[in-house]
Formats: sequence, structure tokens, C-alpha cells
Amino acid sequence: MKKFPEGFLWGAATSSYQIEGGHDADGKGVGIWDEFCQKPGAIYGGHIGDVGCDHYHRASEDIELMAELNLQAYRFSISWPRVMPHGTGEINEKGLEFYDRLIDSLLAANIRPLVTLYHWDLPQAVQDRGGWLNPEIPVWFEEYAKVVVGRLGDRVKDWITLNEPGIYVNLGHFEGTHAPALKLSPAEILTCYKHTFLAHGRACQVIRELAPNATLSYAPHCVTGEPVDDEAQTVEAAREYTFGESHPDRNFWQQRLYIDPICKGVWPEKLCHDLAPEWELPTSDEMAVIHQPLDHLCLNFYSAPLVDPAGAVIPDAPGIARTLFDWPVRERGLHYAVKFHHERTGLPILISENGLSNMDWVAQDGKVHDPQRLDFLERYLGQLHRSISEGIPVLGYMHWSLMDNFEWADGFKQRFGLIHVDFQTGKRTIKESARHYSEWIRANAIP
Ligand code: BGC
Repeated sequence: MKKFPEGFLWGAATSSYQIEGGHDADGKGVGIWDEFCQKPGAIYGGHIGDVGCDHYHRASEDIELMAELNLQAYRFSISWPRVMPHGTGEINEKGLEFYDRLIDSLLAANIRPLVTLYHWDLPQAVQDRGGWLNPEIPVWFEEYAKVVVGRLGDRVKDWITLNEPGIYVNLGHFEGTHAPALKLSPAEILTCYKHTFLAHGRACQVIRELAPNATLSYAPHCVTGEPVDDEAQTVEAAREYTFGESHPDRNFWQQRLYIDPICKGVWPEKLCHDLAPEWELPTSDEMAVIHQPLDHLCLNFYSAPLVDPAGAVIPDAPGIARTLFDWPVRERGLHYAVKFHHERTGLPILISENGLSNMDWVAQDGKVHDPQRLDFLERYLGQLHRSISEGIPVLGYMHWSLMDNFEWADGFKQRFGLIHVDFQTGKRTIKESARHYSEWIRANAIP
């Protein structure tokens, strides 16, 4: 068995819109995903997250399942429109009570809550006022953070501000395939990023003030190059692919943009100039708000392009292992994502998401047999073990996802869960891979 360091945190992750359902329960406001799902053709099969996993009504059962799986931590997000139906002003007490109960029950089950403030469900009322384009949004987000951290900060010891700005800005505002389905100009996209990062900075200040003993983090996605071999020149080429100064051909899909302002206080000027020469860079006062000290960096890692010694991306060979999303299964990328991000930021790393979607179903014997997920887990955790053996501080691993859920524009097509959910009845079935995962957690080791 490969042992993990003592204190390594094993868990699973979800997000509010993807599992909660209860879309109009107890005074919840409308979110941008509630709206987006109504758009014909927006979501695979016309699916909609109104009910989802109905976690809003089944949280106790879900916590029992987490305990059965020996999870030590559970990463979830707060729904801004559930807590503040109009984004600012009125507070929905019942919404806060839901999270109160969730956290109390997790703590009673000895499961550590890792709480994300924003995982993409913006109140529609905020969107109606311009959303991430409105210069006031950092102030509104600060107000929301005060409400949430003020209420839950006595019990939550780990806070994450934002989940993957790169995805919600690029897909939601540039490519238009996610809510709020906009196709803004390059300069407007950079403005969305600036406001997003200012919102992060203000929320950090709130967390430090109201929960001074908590850890503070941020969860970007990774567009990391994976070197095709471990030779120094190839590793350097992959590092350059990941954090090179500017790759205008990759548009806004450049890791420097999501990492450097927040983690280093450095705005990627050349990249911005290449993409939108007319855009005005943030001021030094704004940079001071954006650049707040973090305790560690969360990373959501799924898959990485393969890079050759000259820095070129190698096309995937026909027939390689792929997930249902068509993402290549190539675990070395995880090690290099961890390595490059740790080198760049100096921060310890916590894997806040990693997993695969798979064609899982309940078999005739009543079990969900998912050998691909088991193999995936063993491969990726093996690479994390490698990173740790090479001296990189890796604090924990949150598998995506705890349970099958609403996979954004792909609706319920993609099953990412350790737990199978029947979306007609809500019935949960622990998958066979999860039984192994739970044994590894108990042993603090993988095969
Ligand atoms: C997101 C999750 C999503 C997962 C799989 C990440 O980009 O944070 O919400 O379900 O990837 O696509």
C-alpha cells in the first residue's frame, strides 16, 4: 500500500445548483441557472435542475451516506439566491437555516465542511443589474459574504471564495454555452475578470475578519500542460505551456489569468494587451484588494493536453482511454498541475475536484459496478502520492463528485458520483468504486 501523510484530508465535493433542487422552496430567489435552463436547447435533453438530487430535502440521508463512506471532509457551496433572493438586501432566514442544519449535522458526523461561497449560481436579480460587468458587484459579493460567514463562520473552519472563474467567465460570458449565455467583447471579458477578482479580495477580507481562525482558499480550474516524458526540457515546455506569458491563440484559456492576480498580485499585462489592447489595466489600489494572502490553493483538475519537448500539443492517439465527457484519462497531468501551481504560488495544494463521468447504472444485482472509476481513482491518487513523495505539500483530495448530479449544459447525462442517483425516484446507491475509496480512506493509503 502507498501511505499518505498523517492528516491528509479525504473527501468529496458538490455544488449547490448541481444537487440541491428545492429551486423555489422556502423563499429561495431565482438564479441564473434557473433562467438558463428554461432556454430551449440550452441544456442536453431539456433537463433542468429544479429538483436535481433533491438534496435540499434529503441532506440527512446524504450525510449518513458520507459517514458510511468514511468521508473526512465534504466540500459544498452556498446558493447565493437561496440566502439572499435578490442578491442584496433581504436575507432569507430559511435558506440560512438549511445551511445551519447541514453544517451541524456534518460536524455531528465528524465530517469537516469545506465551504465555497460561489459556485456559479448568481442571483438573477444581480444579473439583471449587469452581473459580473457591474462595477458594484464586488460590493454586493462582500455583503453576501458577510451574511454567510457571519452566520456560519463559528463552525466552518475552511472557506473557499470562488469556484473556477475561468469557466464561468469564459463559458458564460464569452462562448455563451453556460449561464448567463452572453457573448461579450474581449475587453468586457477582462472587466468581468477584474470584478470577479475584486469580489474574491473583498470576500477574503470578510473571512479574515469574521472567521480569523479559518483557512482561506480559492478554487481555479487548471489548463496545465502535461509533459509527454519526464525529461527536463519537456517539463520546461509543459511549464511554459501552462504559465507562459501570453498565448493569444488560446484566447482566455490561459492559466496565468486565473492565478497571477490573486496569488501573486501581478496582472498578466501582455496577455491582456494581446487580447484587448484598449482595455485599461487595474490600478495598484485594485491590485491590493485582489491580492490577499491565502492559506493554500485549491485546484480542480480533470485533464491536460499532452505537450512535446518543443512545446507543441500532441494530438490524442486514436482509441486512448476516455471518460464519457470524452476527456482523456491521463493521470500524470495531475502531478504536473500540482507541481507547476505549487512552484508558481508557493502555496500548499488541496485538490478540490477531480473525477470522471461514466456510463453507470444499477445492475440486476442491485449494485453499481464502475471499474473505470476505481481504476481512475487509483491512477490519479497514485500521482498525488508521487507529488507528495517529491516534497510538494498536498493537503487533501475531494473527489468530484459525492453523487451523480446536474452537469450544467450536459444536464443529467454525465454521472460523476461516488453515489448513483436515480433522478426519477431520488434513490441513492453507493457505487462499488466508492466502497474501495472508503477502505482507502480508512487505511490512509491506496494500493
Ligand atoms: C466544476 C463542476 C463540474 C465539473 C465537471 C468543474 O468545472 O466545478 O461544477 O461539475 O467540473 O465538469
